Amino acid sequence: MTESLLRLTGISKSFAGVRALQGVDLIIEDGKIHCLVGENGCGKSTLIKIIAGVYTRDSGVVEIKGKEVEQIHPIDAIREGIQVIYQDFSLFPNLTVAENIALNEELAEGRRLVNWRNVKQIASEALAQIDVKIPLDALVEDVSVANKQLIAIAKALRRNAQLIIMDEPTSALTEREVRTLFKVIRGLQERRGIAFLFVSHKLNEVLEISETIIVMRNGKIVSSGGRSEYDNTRLIFEMTGHTISENAYEFAPDMSQPSLLRVEGLSARDVLFDISFDMWAGEIVGVTGLLGSGRTELALALYGMLPITDGRIYMENKPVRIASVQDAIEQRVGYVPEDRLTEGLFLEQTIARNTVVRIVDELRGSLGLTDRRQVNAQVNEWVSALRIKTSDPELPVKTLSGGNQQRVVLAKWLASKPRLMILNGPTMGVDVGSKDELHAMMKKLASEGMGLLVISDDIPELLQTCNRILLMRHGRIVEQIWAHETNENELSAKLMED
Ligand SMILES: Nc1ncnc2c1ncn2[C@@H]1O[C@H](COP(=O)(O)OP(=O)(O)OP(=O)(O)O)[C@@H](O)[C@H]1O
Ligand SMILES: [Mg+2]
Repeated sequence: MTESLLRLTGISKSFAGVRALQGVDLIIEDGKIHCLVGENGCGKSTLIKIIAGVYTRDSGVVEIKGKEVEQIHPIDAIREGIQVIYQDFSLFPNLTVAENIALNEELAEGRRLVNWRNVKQIASEALAQIDVKIPLDALVEDVSVANKQLIAIAKALRRNAQLIIMDEPTSALTEREVRTLFKVIRGLQERRGIAFLFVSHKLNEVLEISETIIVMRNGKIVSSGGRSEYDNTRLIFEMTGHTISENAYEFAPDMSQPSLLRVEGLSARDVLFDISFDMWAGEIVGVTGLLGSGRTELALALYGMLPITDGRIYMENKPVRIASVQDAIEQRVGYVPEDRLTEGLFLEQTIARNTVVRIVDELRGSLGLTDRRQVNAQVNEWVSALRIKTSDPELPVKTLSGGNQQRVVLAKWLASKPRLMILNGPTMGVDVGSKDELHAMMKKLASEGMGLLVISDDIPELLQTCNRILLMRHGRIVEQIWAHETNENELSAKLMED
């Protein structure tokens, strides 16, 4: 019989008037894989932080292995075998892989002199347990996101984890890396009986890996049960309270007209080779490929963040030079980066300020004063158009949930009305219900004449939003695919080919 490792009863938590959790009951069973799903802002991360002892609950009971725990401190959670892997992985970037995995232990045991032989030994054993190979001497800052995550798991194992909690572990991973992660998770469950709780917005992954599913809505658990009780439709329904169906975006550009963007023989040293394509106003063109295929580099080159070594760019038939971000902005090219947390926002600043930061000059009147009313109107318009979940736009962006922060990045760019909008992983970390709304918004903007270049490896997303998809491999465009002529399986197979 499986026992409960962790039992939460009636957990509530508010932040300055926002009721993030309201009477949550949750049981985590020994050795099982649990998935926690729900719309952006429904309280998933808050719940995890309470389990980890990062936040203090306002009320409710927590029992770990049948023992009631008054106050959880992060260190107690760790001692009880509960390990949370956060999105920043809490690793030391300037230490090596081996040091990150092993050092804590060496230091914790109070040995002043670190035995370096031992460090490598410990680290290599830990990695062997999850059956992955990562160079032990590499600096953590130089390894991929996927490997950082595996390092964090290896580290958790060193501390005898019995429950590993991961908040959106797959959102920054490519398809292939997700496979590796799932193999590791299953292996640890089978061989070591480790339980997992993880959050994901990708329902196909949830249905693939979970044994128990827990659905949250507005701070409450609305449904939970065994995997076999759920399918995609039911999950969406439980999360959102309604069903959704999305239509593909069909658009046939008038190729006799000048294109919005023409790229000719574009190359960037070692990463992009001879890239040529046209895209027309009103199009949503997808760019897909595996990590290292050059998909992000192409975006960076078009946005002036990666030096072009050869080739030309035209916009509406005029040759343009995009050698800096300033040049790109002058050409009215916008870019929403992949990593919203480090590149996209001023976290300490208000939601309102982040939303209008690109257009404050425009909103400034002839006397150089910004019209508050106009600013507020703009802010409110975007907050409601993108359904940013906040009680007050004057709160700092960091008070928003992950998916809502992503919406602020979008709002900031959309408010500046670019001609060409480059979106890198536009709905990464956004829940399915809202994804659908963001897709609808992208289609609306395109139908009003904006060109959107969408970089993504989310196959359903590409098929639902793009009329055309460019497939990249090793820095080259290898194929152009019309969305209405392909399907999920075919596109997925093409993406995985190397
Ligand atoms: N430190 C904080 N201060 C104020 N409000 C907060 C804070 N942390 C979370 N909230 C609010 O609590 C609610 C739940 O947020 P939480 O981050 O738990 O959502 P989530 O389910 O993880 O969403 P997502 O899928 O977008 O990551 C949101 O309304 C959020 O704005
Ligand atoms: Mg979250």
